Amino acid sequence: MTPRKKTTVAVVYNHSGDDVYEKIREVDPDSLGFKPEYSINVATVTEEYEAIANALSEQGYKVQLVNINEDVQNLIDLLSQNPPDVVFNLIEYYRDDPALEHLVAGLFSIYGVRFTGSGPFTLALCQRKGMTKQLLLANNVPTPRYKLLNEPKIAGRHGLHYPMIVKPSREDASSGVEKESVVYNFEQLTERIKKTFEEYNPPILVEEFIEGRELHISVLGNDPPEVLPIIEFDFSELSDDHPKIISYDAKWNPLEESFHRVHALCPAKLTKRLEKKVKAAALEAYKVTGCTDYARLDIRIREDKKVFVLEVNPNPDLTEGVSFMDSAEHFGLSFGETLAKIVECAMSRPAPSVPVLQKTQEQTENGKDNTISPEEIK
Ligand SMILES: Nc1ncnc2c1ncn2[C@@H]1O[C@H](COP(=O)(O)OP(=O)(O)O)[C@@H](O)[C@H]1O
Ligand SMILES: [Mg+2]
Repeated sequence: MTPRKKTTVAVVYNHSGDDVYEKIREVDPDSLGFKPEYSINVATVTEEYEAIANALSEQGYKVQLVNINEDVQNLIDLLSQNPPDVVFNLIEYYRDDPALEHLVAGLFSIYGVRFTGSGPFTLALCQRKGMTKQLLLANNVPTPRYKLLNEPKIAGRHGLHYPMIVKPSREDASSGVEKESVVYNFEQLTERIKKTFEEYNPPILVEEFIEGRELHISVLGNDPPEVLPIIEFDFSELSDDHPKIISYDAKWNPLEESFHRVHALCPAKLTKRLEKKVKAAALEAYKVTGCTDYARLDIRIREDKKVFVLEVNPNPDLTEGVSFMDSAEHFGLSFGETLAKIVECAMSRPAPSVPVLQKTQEQTENGKDNTISPEEIK
């Protein structure tokens, strides 16, 4: 694939304030009390986005890196005054709220600018785990049995089997997923529900816990979407008091031991039959949720080989060497080539069209718009 050299790409992200990983760099790894397997020198948000912009420049695109800095006006200025051919959308939240992510993406369409990744509808849908699960089930894509709670109460006869996991339904990136999230009896369940309600907005999801293997399945492209080599997580080194899950600490906190004890293996060793089954579930989940360009599906395989989709991640993390990018590398695509493929996916769609507002003859003659002044109302 030859990148269209003249294509202008705005790599757009949203970040303000300090970056926790800068502080972590000051920590002495010998003071941790355990032997870290991985470096605690994790890339900051800004470094990650700079790496994406640089890699796209190396691919031949004309790139600008834009931080909207928690102010949507900065994005409006870009889109209205200096629109790129395509926005590489790396926005994950607005005013610290992931539920507003899709509204920012809506602006690209309003201004008729192409953008990478999924559209606002899919971003909003997948932000709501309960609704996504209903859609998956309606399309025969298995997902763990669950209850969605709007208040911190659950009947003793809830009909679900232990163990279970309690998690926020409108967060991502393992927020609110801790070792105590997995519960084995009613007392632990009610306690965890109470705590999760104290810290997160409802609804809260209570799900049957799938004991077994965990896979991250990355999907790239549209016509047709392609499954990249699958990642499996090795939990065998986790301490006995940590359930075999990717908790928030295991995913993000290099100061915690669990971060160093969960290992990603790629490609996952699966029988042909099982691989076919998980790929089919991943592609169906990608399709029915309306994902475009790229996404990552989090999947578990139970001991009886039944496959469950835990969640759908449109616009997943693109850190070099991690998760989606790890799979892409095993597929034979470099970091830059993968980013270029995503840009070309967006470029191959028609630009969002914005209907021109037709003024009435009277409005045109009077040079007036549709606003009514308070005097006119009186
Ligand atoms: N029903 C479940 N059974 C087993 N593990 C689960 C289940 N739900 C979540 N987990 C664990 O918690 C992690 C985070 O949950 P997930 O649903 O992927 O939410 P998110 O990544 O958006 O926070 C998963 O990667 C998995 O390790
Ligand atoms: Mg997940």
